[in-house]
Amino acid sequence: MGEPSGLGTPAGTPFSPHFGGTPNTLVGRDDLLTTLGSGLATGPNDKWYTTIVMGVRGSGKTTILNEIEDRAAADGWVVLSLDAGTPLLLDRIIQAIAQAGRSYESLEAVADTTGRSVGKSLGIRLGPLQGKLEASDFFQSPQTGLREHLVVLAHQAMKYGASVLLTVDEMHAIDRGEGRRLANDIQHVTRRANLPVAFVGAGLLELRHTLMRDRKMTFFHRCEDYELPPLNEIDAINGLASPIEDAGGSITADALRLAASAVDGSPYRLQVIGDAAWRLSDAPAKPITSHTVDLAVTAAQHTVEKNISIPAWHDLTEREKSVLKSLAGHNGMSNVARVAQDTGISNKRASGLLAHLRDSGYVASLGDAKYRMTGLVSPRVALEPEPLEVDSADTEHQTGDRLRRNRPRCRQWMPRARAYCVLTEGHAGRCRSS
Ligand SMILES: Nc1ncnc2c1ncn2[C@@H]1O[C@H](COP(=O)(O)OP(=O)(O)OP(=O)(O)O)[C@@H](O)[C@H]1O
Ligand SMILES: [Mg+2]
Repeated sequence: MGEPSGLGTPAGTPFSPHFGGTPNTLVGRDDLLTTLGSGLATGPNDKWYTTIVMGVRGSGKTTILNEIEDRAAADGWVVLSLDAGTPLLLDRIIQAIAQAGRSYESLEAVADTTGRSVGKSLGIRLGPLQGKLEASDFFQSPQTGLREHLVVLAHQAMKYGASVLLTVDEMHAIDRGEGRRLANDIQHVTRRANLPVAFVGAGLLELRHTLMRDRKMTFFHRCEDYELPPLNEIDAINGLASPIEDAGGSITADALRLAASAVDGSPYRLQVIGDAAWRLSDAPAKPITSHTVDLAVTAAQHTVEKNISIPAWHDLTEREKSVLKSLAGHNGMSNVARVAQDTGISNKRASGLLAHLRDSGYVASLGDAKYRMTGLVSPRVALEPEPLEVDSADTEHQTGDRLRRNRPRCRQWMPRARAYCVLTEGHAGRCRSS
């Protein structure tokens, strides 16, 4: 694929085995993108104009936000792209608005030619908006609240027949106070003042039990909520076959079927399996066969556990973990009474916890008070959630430090790095994942 450069030879994989990466082929989301796009185009009175997309880890939430932002930017919208995973969200939105005012004024000529990602690092995307947004003094004033900034931006955009799209990723991590203020401000601007400021949020399914239940965030209750469904087998086949074909590779029919069934509905797993199969087969020089897909599925399992299952495990409370452990002890499938017995709680409490785990994508209901674990956290991870790498011989070999190996590790969980700290307990400075 790519030419060698001073930095080395590009990896050449047609897959994106990481989070937030744009896939070569986006599958299974056409209906959502059409409906959502049409809702935005219709305006503030459309129920999809304010939407929250929910899904388990790796289901493609960030990818949907990226895609809808790109489509809106291409239509001349002003796009403010933020995430609630880091503090001071409201201040960052205000900064992004101020930056939009300045950027559109100074970059109006380049916005068209340099593409849509100008300013993305500041949380702003510039589309081919014609004309200037005037960076008034109002934008600069730190005293002014988010609501006023949004109102001014909306009026500025309207002058050019444009609209504003505010996207907020990782909504489950939002600070409650900030969530309430954000909800009130957008409610006012979009619903009461009927200004063209659309909102698309994304987050884990637990949002149903947090933000969308909070009495002081009624705006979020009224947003259209959409749960990303798992990919079906045909989506998985297309999502694997198209990138391989586009990159000049090939895959046998058996291998494709095998890989697609191992995807198990997860876009992230699709990318990781595709990437591993591509590399292990030495594609595109050689075809991808069932043998290499077999190896790829095993290798991918480890990556998926590390990047999806372990973080998902850490999202749970101790009680929820004990419920999953009980299921895991029965090959991942059990019933309310047995879970209650294993964990020493009442049937009613066990039933409530299982329902909560079902709503969050960890277990599926089989009817008749029976449940089975989904692939989000496998029985293996529930029984042995500690990562292998910390105590492995590899680590010892790499550090060459036997004394250190025998000292207790910090093991602090680092949500952003999706890893445990590998330094020794009581270490100086920040935690490190490697
Ligand atoms: N519809 C899709 N078709 C094919 N690949 C997809 C699709 N959606 C997402 N992907 C790929 O799956 C991977 C995970 O997607 P993404 O980062 O959007 O998930 P996420 O739900 O935001 O995960 P997290 O909850 O960890 O933030 C990325 O590599 C992305 O390119
Ligand atoms: Mg994401």
